[in-house]
Amino acid sequence: MTTRLYVALFLAAFACPGFAQVPEGYGCMEGNLPNEVRQDCHPEPGASEQICRARGCVWCGPDPSADGQNFPHCFYRNPFYVAPGPSCDVGYVQPALRVDCTDGTEPMGEMGCRYRNCTWCPDVPGSMYPPCFTSAAVDDTGYAMVGEPVQTPGGISFTITKSLISPQFENQFTTLNFEATFQSDYRLRIKISPSDTQRFEVPIQIDPPAGSNANLLYDVTFTRSPFSFRVVRKSSGAVLFDTSAGKFQFADQFITMSWRLPTENVYGLGENEQRSFKHDFAERLKYTLYASDQAPYFTSSLYGTHPVYTVIENGGNTHMVAIINSNAQEFHLLPGPSMKYITIGGLIDMYFFLGPTPDQTVQQFTEAVGRSQMPAYWSLGFQLCRWGYDNITNMKAAVDRTEFYQIPHDVQYGDIDIMRDELDFTYSEVNFPGLPAYIEELKGKGIKFITILDPAISTIDADYEPYTLGTEMDVWIKRQDGTPMTGHVWPYGATAPCHFPDYAKNSTREWWIYLVDKFHDLLAYDGLWIDMNEPANFDNGDIQGCANNTWNYPPYQPKTDANKADMHFKTLCGDHVDSVSIHYNTHSLYGWFESEPTLIGARSGTGKRSLVLSRSTFIGSQRWASHWLGDNWSHWSNLHFSIIGVMQFNLWGMPYVGPDTCGFIGNSNAAMCQRWGELGAFYPFSRNHNVRDTIDQDPGAWGAQVAASTKAALEVRYTLLPYLYTLFYHHVSSGTAVFRPLWYNHQDDSRTYPIDRQFMWGAGLLISPVLTEATTWVTAYFPNSRHFSYYTGDEIPVRGNTLNMTAPLDFIHVHVVGGNVLPTQEPARNTEAARLNPLGVIVALDDGGSAVGDLFYDDGDSIDTHLTGAYFHAVYTMSSGTLTSTVVHDGYPEMGTKTLNTIRLMGLTTPATSVTVNGVSHTDFENLESGEVLVRNLNLVANSAFTVVFA
Ligand code: NOJ
Repeated sequence: MTTRLYVALFLAAFACPGFAQVPEGYGCMEGNLPNEVRQDCHPEPGASEQICRARGCVWCGPDPSADGQNFPHCFYRNPFYVAPGPSCDVGYVQPALRVDCTDGTEPMGEMGCRYRNCTWCPDVPGSMYPPCFTSAAVDDTGYAMVGEPVQTPGGISFTITKSLISPQFENQFTTLNFEATFQSDYRLRIKISPSDTQRFEVPIQIDPPAGSNANLLYDVTFTRSPFSFRVVRKSSGAVLFDTSAGKFQFADQFITMSWRLPTENVYGLGENEQRSFKHDFAERLKYTLYASDQAPYFTSSLYGTHPVYTVIENGGNTHMVAIINSNAQEFHLLPGPSMKYITIGGLIDMYFFLGPTPDQTVQQFTEAVGRSQMPAYWSLGFQLCRWGYDNITNMKAAVDRTEFYQIPHDVQYGDIDIMRDELDFTYSEVNFPGLPAYIEELKGKGIKFITILDPAISTIDADYEPYTLGTEMDVWIKRQDGTPMTGHVWPYGATAPCHFPDYAKNSTREWWIYLVDKFHDLLAYDGLWIDMNEPANFDNGDIQGCANNTWNYPPYQPKTDANKADMHFKTLCGDHVDSVSIHYNTHSLYGWFESEPTLIGARSGTGKRSLVLSRSTFIGSQRWASHWLGDNWSHWSNLHFSIIGVMQFNLWGMPYVGPDTCGFIGNSNAAMCQRWGELGAFYPFSRNHNVRDTIDQDPGAWGAQVAASTKAALEVRYTLLPYLYTLFYHHVSSGTAVFRPLWYNHQDDSRTYPIDRQFMWGAGLLISPVLTEATTWVTAYFPNSRHFSYYTGDEIPVRGNTLNMTAPLDFIHVHVVGGNVLPTQEPARNTEAARLNPLGVIVALDDGGSAVGDLFYDDGDSIDTHLTGAYFHAVYTMSSGTLTSTVVHDGYPEMGTKTLNTIRLMGLTTPATSVTVNGVSHTDFENLESGEVLVRNLNLVANSAFTVVFA
């Protein structure tokens, strides 16, 4: 039917006598209108004929010739109907400050807008400013404070209520408790929850703060009606968080709150692929957080859930905000700058960490949510992996190539292709005959072995212990009817039905720990890699599909990816049940629940510190696991994105992170792998890994040139491993980040805020890689400190400015920052060998001729030495020409068998004429052309206190 004909029918309908007598609720026969003139009567999701008729609207599908255009099925009978709701003159908000009212049904027209009680004001058409926005001033469906705040032991609380229900979502809570707990001077908790209903609360552990709450750094203030709250930094008056930006709604499956931010210097929220570390608010991006088995592409929701962000305020103070919610959630980043937050379950439970330095915010955040395990020393070495060695011959060939080129190599991996029929806790004697013996052979050479486990357990073998014992111990996630949910992942080429362990349950933890421990008898792994734990399921929900209920098809579904309609796409159904709750609530916690029992099992099996690398993580996963950035791409852009990802996880308290060097998906190439190999030497977790059915990409596979530059970069890494290891000690003992953005150390320098192509190790090392193809120069920013080339000791001639530097294909720029002492050790093919080599220090002086640093060292493999005391710790200070080593803790006797042999002193203003060690003249030193003084053959006992005087 043509539009013209429709218009004719429409006019005829109005002319028809008796039109007004049609009973309530209409179908096509009584009230059809042409597609083009329909006004949507059910703009929110979940329209049905019943609801539509109950609204007195017409329920009728669009004309089939409408060809996929989105005309409403449920529309007002009167095409000129104007829904109530504010317009420009009532709820006007300046364009730049508007919080969009859309909720996924974009683009929203006037009717949808008014229906939501949002303001419709298309005064800047075609611009990025929304015509439909929330306006707290006219929101009569908002909450209002009841009475005055009541003092509680640690803060205040009060009730907020609302009388008018906004039409948008079912089951709204009309009475809520607002609690502000002043946990310490720097830590504030805000919790908003229904007064009379127990809701799902995330079961992570939040540890108490050390400090008092006598001198709060913040104020919390309120507006009464509509209710909003603000968090203000007392010292500067900066408003850190202001929820008057938009509507606050709290329905059973839809909670939204919007807030203004003090600046656009905002970092974090994930895990998503982000293309700039500092968020760009003009782009109006939306990030969904819902653990997803998803190869990264721009904004898509990835493996982990970290609703945590950091803000640098005007003037350089920083704070962090963490939202403790595990339901599917969205952050809309809006000009203003503001954030609109939507979650479809749980509570508003948020923590503010007031810093004010970046380092303090990370320390305060990790004090609450937990810090990482100290990584094994060997795990800081280079790691080699691929999916698709397919047989032991290919694995050996990769290992041999690496050895042939003498590339440092600390860990070899076996992916799922080493398994028998992709079954956990097995290996294939057909494709990998003699693997256990080969692992022993590798260990003889100082190379460790890590392998993989997936959660999905095949159900088809009657004698497969993980399945039989699991069934006996009742470890599986269940359907609503109590039967184990069933899906498919890798086993038997993804043909075997699988059950999924409920890792939250005690019997499951026991079962898993037993299997992980026992597995070590079969394959003597040193660490474990837990994959597919979002959890991934190749069926959507279950082999039976998902029932049609509100947990599987919630009224509002955050989209993990534009192409995926339902939240159970490639995972479990929302109504599957575990021992804590329904999967709807616990989905994003699956990897978090799996991590602790895996570490316990691995430590029991190895008797050592071991390592768990988890694909899916949540706030606090770092207590037991680390992370790699997942299935990235062999694209040049991914070198840049990897730096952003690693910096983010460092702010979230998980410093041991890295991507798949050279890229996972697709064929890499020599040029990319050469540059990526150089950058890869500076990720805290440094592993080359790729997908099956692609060409080999281990550094030895590309021939001499790539092998040589990878080796050279890794030798810089290995030389600096004592420094890197010491940075991890600082993380485990006080929470600081290891791999840092420049602003972390230079919060007062706003030129550092957007930098995400350079990064720092601690405060002492600046790395400026080349990230683009066919490029042999790099423009690097040098903050206002002295910087010295790591390689030559030459001082950089600029400060607080950029410098273009040539960067040949086989070279990565590394600079030591004045004021730091970096401990070193001569490199070797792996850490087992390197740890026998002499140590040294690089001393880079600041403007005042001073420097400070330290060394933490232990056996590298025993559990919690920093707590048991089985470690060595010395502090190095240099001032007025004297370098002093002070032993702070001497609990690792083997330190006495090592020597400290060299000092590289950078930044003396005049050449050294003499060097005196512990009062005795030492003649083996040289003033290099760069100005560096190189002192050799010191032969100091590494755990001795010493004094070296330069004159
Ligand atoms: C997906 C992981 O992300 C990838 O690293 C691994 O190689 C494959 N699963 C196979 O185990």
